[in-house]
Formats: sequence, C-alpha cells, structure tokens
Amino acid sequence: MCGIVGVLGRVEVAPRIVDSLKRLEYRGYDSAGVATLVDGQLVRRRAEGKLRNLESVLENAPLAGSAGIGHTRWATHGAPTVTNAHPHLAGSVAVVHNGIIENYLDLRDEVSAAGAVLDTETDTEVVAHLINLAMAAGKSPRDAVADVLPRLKGAFALALLFAGEDDLLIGARKGSPLAIGHGEGEMFLGSDAIALSPFTDRITYLEEGDWAVLTRSSVDIFDRDNTQVARPEAKSSVTSSLMDKGNYKHFMAKEIHEQPEVLGHTLSRYFDYTSNQASVEGADALNFKDLNRLIITACGTAYLAGLVSKYWFEKYARLPVEIDIASEFRYRETPVCDKDAALFISQSGETADTLASLRYCKEHGATIGAIVNVPESTIAREADRVFPTIAGPEIGVASTKAFTCQLAVLAALALQAGRERGVLSEAREKELVAELTEVPSLALKALAAETDIEKLSQPLSKAQNALYLGRATNFPLALEGALKLKELSYIHAEGYAAGELKHGPIALIDENMPVFVIAPYDAIYEKTVSNMQEVAARGGRIVLITDERGAAECGNAAENTVVLPNMTDIVAPIIYALPVQMIAYHTAVFMGTDVDQPRNLAKSVTVE
Ligand code: G6P
Repeated sequence: MCGIVGVLGRVEVAPRIVDSLKRLEYRGYDSAGVATLVDGQLVRRRAEGKLRNLESVLENAPLAGSAGIGHTRWATHGAPTVTNAHPHLAGSVAVVHNGIIENYLDLRDEVSAAGAVLDTETDTEVVAHLINLAMAAGKSPRDAVADVLPRLKGAFALALLFAGEDDLLIGARKGSPLAIGHGEGEMFLGSDAIALSPFTDRITYLEEGDWAVLTRSSVDIFDRDNTQVARPEAKSSVTSSLMDKGNYKHFMAKEIHEQPEVLGHTLSRYFDYTSNQASVEGADALNFKDLNRLIITACGTAYLAGLVSKYWFEKYARLPVEIDIASEFRYRETPVCDKDAALFISQSGETADTLASLRYCKEHGATIGAIVNVPESTIAREADRVFPTIAGPEIGVASTKAFTCQLAVLAALALQAGRERGVLSEAREKELVAELTEVPSLALKALAAETDIEKLSQPLSKAQNALYLGRATNFPLALEGALKLKELSYIHAEGYAAGELKHGPIALIDENMPVFVIAPYDAIYEKTVSNMQEVAARGGRIVLITDERGAAECGNAAENTVVLPNMTDIVAPIIYALPVQMIAYHTAVFMGTDVDQPRNLAKSVTVE
C-alpha cells in the first residue's frame, strides 16, 4: 500500500526520492508525487498511474531542492487522480500519509469552519490543514505536530515538510510502519528498509505511537505521551542489489525460481539434520505439550499456508487448530485465554488485520508466535516468539516463495508439536524429516514442468472462468491456485474441495470451463479422480496436476497433465504450490497483465 519517503540531503533530492519510491512500487499504488523545498517554498509534482508518469512530469518540470518527501498512493478515500495524489499542501505544510484517518470528516468540518479550503477527496489533506492552522496560531512545527497527532484517529504513518525549514522533517507512526535512515550529514524517512536501501543501512524503527523530529545531524524521537525516548539503531540486511530482477522478466518469475534455494535455507534453520528432528528455537514458549488448541490467523496467501498446516497439526500432533482469516477473526469476539497459543502468519509482518488479531489474542493472554518474512516488522516485534521465513525480500505482489517457506516453518512446528505431545514416534519423525530434506531438490524438479505449463497457459488465457479442485492439503492449494489466477490474470476462478463439486459448482461445468485438479497419488487420489471423471463427463476441460504414478493411473479424462516427481504426503503441498504459481504466472504473461503489480492490489495491506 502507500509508500513514504523523506530525505534531508546534501544534493538535489527529487531523483533520489523517485529512486526510493521505485523500491516501494512492489507494495502496490496508483498515483505518486514528490514535494521539495525550493528557496524555502514548498513545490510539488504529482502524476496518476505509474512512476514513469511522475518521471516524465519531472523531466518537463524539474524540481530542485535538497529536502523533500515522496509518496506512492494506493487509493482509499478518493479516486487515484492527480488532485488526490500526495503530497498534500496547506499553507506552510506538506504531508504524505499511509493509512486511514478515520475521523477525517469531523476534522474537515472543523478546518473548513476555520477558513481552510480543501481541494481533495482524501482523508489525508486535513492533517496538513490542522498543522498549518496550529502554526498560523503561532506554534512551531514541532509543537503543532505534537498538538495534532493525538487528535488523529485511525492508522497512519506521516512524513511532514515545512516551508522555510530546510533542515527539518517530521515523521510519525501509529498503526502503519515508518523507519528512520541515518546517513552521513543526511537523514531519511521511509516506509521500510527497502525504501531506505538506496541511502543507508543504518536504520531506526519507530515504535507504535512514536514521532520523530529529524535534521541532517540529529534525530529526536518522542513516544505517544510526548516523552523523548531512545530507539536503537540497527543494521539493515536489505541491500539495493537484492531488488534486482536478474535475468528474469518479472520479480515473480525470479521468486518462483528462487524456491529450491530459499526452501533449503528455511528448512535447515528449523530441522536438525544430524538427529533428523524438528528443532524450532522458541517453540517451547508455545507449550505444545499442554495446549488445548492452537489459533492460526492470517490474510490472503499466508492464510492458505495456515490452512495447510491445520491438516498437519491435527494429523501429526493431534492438536486442534482454529483457523480464520484475520479480518473475520478479529470481529468474531472469539474466546481466547492464557491457555491458548496463537500463530500469526504474514510475509510483510505489517498486515493491518493480522496485527489487530495478534493484539486481540495478546490482550486475552494467549502466547503469540509469528511467522514473518520481515524480521523487523511490527508483527515480529509484538510477538512473544518469531519464526522467520528465510525467503529474502519478496517484491512480486503475489506471494510465492514466502508461501512455500511459511509451509516449511509450519511443517517443522507441526512435527515438533507431534513429538512434544507424544503423538509422533521418534522413528516416524525421522522418516518425515528425511522426506522434507528432499524438498529443495523436488522443487527444482517441479520447475522443470514450466515448459509444459507455459504451453497449456496460452489457451487458458482466453477463459472467462476457471475451477480448481483438491482434497485435504490440496484443498488450500486449490484455493491458492484460484486466488493466484484471479489476482494476476483477472480471470474469475474458484477453488473448491473436490468433494463439494456435486454440491454446487458442477452446475458451472461446460466445454468452456478449465478445471484444474490437484491430485498427487495419495490415499485419496482415487476419490479426487472420480470427481475429475464427473467433470469430464460434462465436457469440462481438465488440467490434472499429479505425479508419475498418478499420471499412469488417471486414464484419459484430462486434456492436459502436469507431471511432477513422486513424493510423500508431507512434502506435496509445498511442491505442488510451484505448478499452481507457474500456471497463474504464464497465463498472466500471455494476457499481458502487470504481473508484479496487478491492478488494484497491494503487497502490504496496512489498512483495514
Ligand atoms: C496481500 C498480498 C498477498 C498476501 C496478503 C497477506 O493481499 O497481495 O500476496 O498474501 O496481502 O499479506 P502478508 O504480508 O500478511 O502475508
């Protein structure tokens, strides 16, 4: 979602701000803008659509100035027009904002009554007006910000620039992330370490409720009570070079192909290959042995990783799992108590609903575990224990390598729980761990199906609708397949538990409907294949995703078959994710959609 950059530099900042905004493109956006101080005056340039449009605006009308702020906007209040694009100006204040100011209608009435003229449909503009009015009444920028922040309801990260103040930037965070970058005689603000990576690797993360006053040589941080506080400086591991597509056409393709390697890194962190045991540092805090139930909450693809793991925790550890999407969980008033453990899964570690669910469980006494890909994220910092995925930065909006790495961590937790609860014998655990060690090489073999997948994706790109079917752990994968196809190629797709076919979706089957059947040769293969026959009998066009044994047994009902190597049950959902990702990817490439930044989507959903 919206990305924020602020720079107090020594040379012209507009090109540097645009460079940093490019690193934030992955979050998803639909307009962008920059404001700088030119001879003490606030001047801005804004454009609808992609950053290249802002770059052309800047080429035609360059922006001087060594202090500035920039923004990529993912529209919430008001269409993605130039007028609604940030920065917003009011008198001597310019602001960029990520989040939602929930009480903006009341505040609009208030500033309008005080004589302010509002130009936009956004919730953000009132912030600039409120601060400007406070300054017009004689307050310094710092005092004006301190007065206004407590009046803003909702979630926000803000960066503020002031006319006539060439050595001043103010940033604030409540609910949306914001970090300070320390340079040599320069200072920066950014939504995350990725935004700051072109400038510095010395980073201070603001805590919830903090706000900060920056000059080129100083940083003063205040907490929500306006008490000055010290926050540690950390060294970021994100380097600019990691943001490179390499030889791939899209970040998503690169990230799909990185999976054998990053799965290897993640598995070796959570399994001890000498003893062939799961070995998850910090899992003791979850107290698996005496746990009555495990709560799992997440959004989007991360939720589907959690759904796969429900089957694992229940099968291998006899541990009941309650799982829900975070935006429902947080409003269900679910009973939670100090005997519960709750796991939150999030690539970004910033998803607003997941974070709110975490806080709900924490308030009710549950022990909190977090599986995140960004170790410095808010969810990681608020959890009792963090289980990082070692996937590296994921830039494509559609999650791929983070998903399979989440599965790797969840498999380790499930096996550890099984051992601690006395359900998994030592011998069985050793077998399962040995099977999981094959994951990187199986992932590599699964990538070899890409040529076949590319071929079958071309006709698919003409379909209007598609159906994905699977049973047991392949059911969440069916949901993931449908989600990926929808988000990347804009083809309407549904994922169904194969057994539910006859309870409704079979009515949709005709010769125009591609049906993806995910069916490894396992104990329920026959049942899924029966469902496939029911589709074939009604003229549906079947793509069967199976293994060598499954392909040999399936008869000729499928129009196309994607054949993976034979593998065991625990490994299958991790490996079958790859063809599912590649089908969505290649279909989208044929359709010519924006694969890395599909329309309307955001990578990091920091509003509710
Ligand atoms: C967005 C992204 C998805 C992601 C979901 C949850 O919808 O486009 O790829 O799965 O958010 O994000 P998180 O960062 O919490 O995993």
